[in-house]
Amino acid sequence: MAKGLDVGTMNLISAQQEGAETVFVQQRNSFVEIEYSDMAEQMLSRSDVLNIRKDDKVHVLGDDALKFATIFNSETRRPMQRGILSSEESSAIPMIKLITEQVVGEPNHPGESIYFSSPADPIDSELSTLYHEKTMESMLGDTGYDPEPINEGMAVIYSELADNDFTGLGVSFGAGMTNVCLAYYAVPVMKFSIARGGDWVDEQTAQATGTPVDKVTTIKEDDFELNFTTDVGGVEGALAIYYENLLDYVIKNIAREVDEEDVESGLDVPVVVTGGTSSPDGFDELFEDHIREASIPFSIDDVGSVDEPLYSVARGALVAARSEEQANGDGHDGDDEEAEAAADSAED
Ligand SMILES: Nc1ncnc2c1ncn2[C@@H]1O[C@H](COP(=O)(O)OP(=O)(O)OP(=O)(O)O)[C@@H](O)[C@H]1O
Ligand SMILES: [Mg+2]
Repeated sequence: MAKGLDVGTMNLISAQQEGAETVFVQQRNSFVEIEYSDMAEQMLSRSDVLNIRKDDKVHVLGDDALKFATIFNSETRRPMQRGILSSEESSAIPMIKLITEQVVGEPNHPGESIYFSSPADPIDSELSTLYHEKTMESMLGDTGYDPEPINEGMAVIYSELADNDFTGLGVSFGAGMTNVCLAYYAVPVMKFSIARGGDWVDEQTAQATGTPVDKVTTIKEDDFELNFTTDVGGVEGALAIYYENLLDYVIKNIAREVDEEDVESGLDVPVVVTGGTSSPDGFDELFEDHIREASIPFSIDDVGSVDEPLYSVARGALVAARSEEQANGDGHDGDDEEAEAAADSAED
């Protein structure tokens, strides 16, 4: 057995194989701190709300955080920002640890392999991903797993471009970041991230229209479409403007990086766009129109979208973990631990 984990600014999602099916477990990467009270006690005892109590405070974590924030008139907080652990949130590490443990569960056996997504260093900010990656790695190790980071863009290629020999350009439009990876035959030849994603679109729209950012996010996720005919002057109109600006910014950076990295030209490269921010209708068409107009030294074969954009990264991490496991021949199907231990000590 092996697992995949998408560590995202907005969503933590695990994936594991059960028979022919891939099973996902998802929580919002978010929490709220409320005062302990009889009402809180009642609400917490009634359901399987993920929470932890400390003295007169309760932290509610994951999907329920927003509901409790609304009822108790408090603000949700987030352990991650712009793709990595937030330096501005003092409770980031204990909170993300609890949410992660709920999402991944106990390992099926000690040292079970788990591949977790990690962003590439951003090209447009000073942020480094090293601390984030190492912290997540040791956290998963403490939980009993054998963790291995996988680049988020590479995970997209594992998940969506298997039929194309793991060759192509994968772009994951997340909440805090956009991750880009170009791979040939499963070997990444260019990878980078951009410190902009859905959160940036929401913040800019909120500022431009004077609307609270949570409201903007709700409108965006509800039924917003990228068709440019509606709502000039309203929130949806502003969302469309910042969406298009994000796309142009990402494509401009792809063109620049491809140029700098001297990527072999004359190739036919399929492109896959995914991630929660790619969800609105019209996104793929808009991305395709804009990338075809950009001067990129290879030809774009096809721009594909995916059915479940939120799950691409977790699925890809699982594919990578399982193929590594098969290559090592340690599927843990049977009772082969002893044989393995013997093989290990023989190696020493
Ligand atoms: N139906 C939808 N329409 C528009 N946006 C959506 C929709 N569903 C989710 N999103 C947006 O997608 C983003 C979350 O996507 P995703 O889970 O891929 O990001 P993440 O992996 O948590 O973040 P990152 O990879 O940047 O760390 C948020 O900005 C969210 O508002
Ligand atoms: Mg992501």
